[in-house]
Amino acid sequence: MEPWWKGAVLYHVYVRSFFDSGGDGHGDLPGVLAKLDYIEGLGVDGIWLSPIHPSPNRDWGYDVADYAGVQADYGALEDFQRLLDAAHARGLKVLLDEVLSHTSDEHPWFVESLTGGQTGPKADWYVWADPKDDGTAPNNWLSVFGGPAWAYQPKRRQHYHHKFLRQQPKLNWREPAAREAALSVLDLWLSRGVDGFRLDVAGTFLHDAALTDNPPVPVDERTRLHWSHAGNLQRHLHDSNLPENVGVLDAIRRRVESHGPDRFVFGEFSEEEARCGAYCTPEEGLHSGYTFVMLLARKLETAFVREHYRTLADHPFHWPTISLSNHDVPRTVSRFGGKDASPELAKMLFALLLALKGTALIYQGEELGLPQASLARDQLRDPVGDLYWPYDGGRDGCRTPMPWTPGPNLGFTDGTPWLPTAREHAGLTVAEQERDPDSALAFARQMIALRKASPALRLGELEFLEKDEPVLAFVRRHEGEAIACLFNFSDAPRFVDAPELAGAELLAVRAGDADLRGGSIGLSPHAAAFLRLA
Ligand code: NOJ
Repeated sequence: MEPWWKGAVLYHVYVRSFFDSGGDGHGDLPGVLAKLDYIEGLGVDGIWLSPIHPSPNRDWGYDVADYAGVQADYGALEDFQRLLDAAHARGLKVLLDEVLSHTSDEHPWFVESLTGGQTGPKADWYVWADPKDDGTAPNNWLSVFGGPAWAYQPKRRQHYHHKFLRQQPKLNWREPAAREAALSVLDLWLSRGVDGFRLDVAGTFLHDAALTDNPPVPVDERTRLHWSHAGNLQRHLHDSNLPENVGVLDAIRRRVESHGPDRFVFGEFSEEEARCGAYCTPEEGLHSGYTFVMLLARKLETAFVREHYRTLADHPFHWPTISLSNHDVPRTVSRFGGKDASPELAKMLFALLLALKGTALIYQGEELGLPQASLARDQLRDPVGDLYWPYDGGRDGCRTPMPWTPGPNLGFTDGTPWLPTAREHAGLTVAEQERDPDSALAFARQMIALRKASPALRLGELEFLEKDEPVLAFVRRHEGEAIACLFNFSDAPRFVDAPELAGAELLAVRAGDADLRGGSIGLSPHAAAFLRLA
């Protein structure tokens, strides 16, 4: 019997932008509860909630100030418990986004580490180091968000390490007491009943104790990086991504499993992608993980899918998590389609997500085919947007509120939304799409149902069929069932020779049109077709 999470479909709720039940303009946990019927109606297996703990929100919850609590904007612990119970009553799993590599600088652990000085009981709970003799930072490590990954604190006459904002000090996982305190967070929420976790920046728990400098990224490789932030100018080999990091991940996974064999933990691996496979195997590390290879791809070429699976090929027993969209990257249909983003393209990309091998993550609104929102500078809330304006508007364009109904604030709130609803989302609301049998939403429901009913799509191995760009083709196979999956990545019709598909049954669930004639198949622009092989 395979674990429930293998091949499951998880719906990623970005709580602040999902549904505001209280009229303060911020999405909240009662809001998620109010929309649980909608989530259940999609046919997904569970949800993962963006961070819910109290936070000064410098990085919107990814800077936790109290791991035991619930952010006041989102409700109280009882609201969380009600949501959890209601989800479980519907058979939906609930996963939390746990951010344990760093804390907020307002977390009492950090405050004590700072104020207790170099000999206090929590002195080493964070990564402190002396300045160099010339007064500069301890080494060359760069923050992901740009600039040195070190902040000087006169109180200790030392720098502390921060991989992200300076308000997100890195917890020292080499310090046994700090490590145990972080692991206890998992115990607490598992004992409250959650089914598992999405683990933030899972490659970053351990740093090199000798503080060795990071090597640069070769100049000719820099352009392919999505965020041309200063942090991406070097390879993060010594501040993060250490081979022994797998030991920490292993400890996390064991801790999670100690609360029951059906608990699940998957990690985010945003650097050194090839390591994701090594960090998540049946023997060691987390259950699963996702990388940014497909999240950052911008060209609609089949190569990005192939590249992703190539990075995983060294670890044939690794079970990946698949994600094309989340709260950190431009929305899929706009990333690949730009101004030509169309409902057809949105459907094809959704079909691709659900057909690939892995546990699938749907980001809220992806099922609606939502395009990226454009915001003015004074509307931005993400610190990254401010740092890199106007080159990169940051991450707010994919974080705007869910469009529920036509009318004021697209039904998200009765108040003033914390981030404006997107004018690009008018006409794409849930209510409107529910009335249209051809909508992206209607297709998403069919696609999820198709996957649910097919062991091959849920659990099968993936073998690419050798077809030329712009057609991506692969077969998913599991215990006697084989489904061929074909995608026309171009906006023109394509005919493909496919003698291996002769005699196959074309399934009714498809995006666009497909026409199978003997050994060839015609695909309409941006079509996605599925065939059951004899
Ligand atoms: C990854 C999260 O997805 C992102 O939103 C956050 O800024 C960083 N980790 C830092 O926690």
